[in-house]
Amino acid sequence: MSEYVLGIDLGTSAVKVSAVDRQGKIAAQESFDYPLHQPQTGYSEQNPNDWVMSTTVAIVRLILNDHINAADIQGVSYSGQMHGLVLLDKDNQVLRPAILWNDTRTTKQCQEIEEKLGKRFVEITGNRPLEGFTLPKLLWVKENEPDIWEKATTCLLPKDYLRYRMTGKLGIDYTDATGTTLLDININQWSKELCEQFEIPEAMLPELIKSDELVGNVTKEYAEFSGLSTATKVFGGAADNAAGALGAGITKPGQLLSSIGTSGVLLKYEEAPKTKYAGQLQMEDHPDGKYYSMGVTLAAGYSLSWFKKTFCQDQTFNEMTKAAEQSSIGANGLIFTPYIVGERTPYADANIRGSFIGVDAKQERGDFARAVMEGIVFSFADLLSIYRKNNAQIKEIVSIGGGAKSDFWLQMQADIFNLPVVKLQNEQGPGMGAAILAATGLGWYASIAEAADAFVDQEQRYLPKAENVAKYAKVYAIYQQVYEQTKGLSYKLQDYKEANNI
Ligand code: XUL
Repeated sequence: MSEYVLGIDLGTSAVKVSAVDRQGKIAAQESFDYPLHQPQTGYSEQNPNDWVMSTTVAIVRLILNDHINAADIQGVSYSGQMHGLVLLDKDNQVLRPAILWNDTRTTKQCQEIEEKLGKRFVEITGNRPLEGFTLPKLLWVKENEPDIWEKATTCLLPKDYLRYRMTGKLGIDYTDATGTTLLDININQWSKELCEQFEIPEAMLPELIKSDELVGNVTKEYAEFSGLSTATKVFGGAADNAAGALGAGITKPGQLLSSIGTSGVLLKYEEAPKTKYAGQLQMEDHPDGKYYSMGVTLAAGYSLSWFKKTFCQDQTFNEMTKAAEQSSIGANGLIFTPYIVGERTPYADANIRGSFIGVDAKQERGDFARAVMEGIVFSFADLLSIYRKNNAQIKEIVSIGGGAKSDFWLQMQADIFNLPVVKLQNEQGPGMGAAILAATGLGWYASIAEAADAFVDQEQRYLPKAENVAKYAKVYAIYQQVYEQTKGLSYKLQDYKEANNI
C-alpha cells in the first residue's frame, strides 16, 4: 500500500494540492484558481467559500483523475496566505469577505496603533503596525462596519478557515498568529495588553496550535463532500512564508530564502525574536519553535503577471522572459519600481506607486519585461541591504517560486545580490513545507528539520559574475533614488484618483 500526505498551499490566486509520498516525492498535484476582488483602490478581498470549493475540486481531481486512493492519504496539512481576516459569527458563519494581506485600507488604524504604543508594539509583536496585518483590519471593521463587528465572535486566518471546514475545529497555528500582530512573540501567547488596549475580546482569538500538531480528523461531512476518508488526520499547518522556508530547507541560523510569489520575500532564520531590526523587517514564528525575519515586496510576481496581462497577452510567459533575456543589463536604460499596489518593506508606504524611469524611443517590449524582472530583484536588494547593515553573515540565498524557474532569473539574482544563489531539486514552494508538517505530525520523521532534510535537496549554485555585478550595482544605485524622487508625484496622483473615484 502506498502512503501519502497532502500539502495544501492556499495562495492568493489559486490553491495547489500536492500528494507527497514518504520520501518526499510528488505523486500527483492539482490546482484550482479563485478570483480576487478589488472593489476600491487599495482594497483586496476574497470569498472564503471559494477557498473551500477550489480546494475540494483539487482534492476530488487528485482522487478521480490522478487515482490517489483516499485510504492512502494518511495526513493533511496547510500553507496559507498570511494576515487575511476571516470573521465568523456565533454559528461560525462567515460575516463578510476576507480582507487580504495586500489590502492597504488601514493606514489610519496603523497610525493610531503607532501613536498609542510606538516602540512597545515592536517589543510585544516583533513588528511595526503595517496595513497588511490582521490587527489593523480588525480595528477597521470595528470602526467602519459596527453591525458586522457586533456579530463577530471569531477571527481566523485563511488556511485556518479551510482547516475548520475540513475538521470542524477552530484554531490558529503560531506562525500565522504572529502575523496577526496580536501574539506576544516573547511568550507565544495572545497579548492581553494589546487586546485590552484595542478592546479586542480575547475570546475572538482561537486556540493556538503548533504547525505539526494533530487538530483532528476529516469530518464525515467533508469526507462525503471531497471523497477523503474520515481516517485522514489533519495537522496545524503554517503561514505561506514559514512553509516556503521549510519547503526550501531553511531550518538553521544564517540561512536565507528569496521567494517570488504574488508577493516577494527575503527571509532569514533567526534564533530569537530580537527587536534588532526595530520593526523594519517582520519577525514571525518558524514552525520549529524558533523565528524568522523577513522583508516583503508587495507586488513581486504580481508585477510581472500584471505586465504580461496588460502588455503581452499575445506572448507566452516564456516568450516574454526570453525577450527580456535578449535585452541588456539595465534594460537598455530603463528602470521599473514594483510599487504597483504600494510597498511594504523598506518603505511601508501604501500610497507610493510604481514607475518606469528612462523610457526611450529605442526601447522595445523586451526591455520593459526585463526592467520589471530587474526591478523586482532590486526591491529584494533593498531588503538584503537591511540584513547587511545589521551585519548578518550570509553564505548563500536559496531561491524559490518565480525567481527559481529560469537560469536567467537565478543568475540575475546572484549578480544583483553578489552572492551565490541556490536552486533546489524539484522545488515545490510552500506546498512542500505543508507536506513536511503532515509527515512530521504523522511521526514519519522525528522532527520538522529531519523531514525537511529528507524532502529537500539542492541542485545547483549560481555564482555572481564580477562583470555583471559591477553593471547591476550602477543601475541599482539609480533605482534606489526613485522612491524618494517619485513619492511626491505618486501622492498627488493618489489625491487625483480619490477626488475622481478612480
Ligand atoms: C507576508 C505577506 C505575504 C503573504 C502572501 O507578510 O504579507 O507574503 O503571506 O501570501
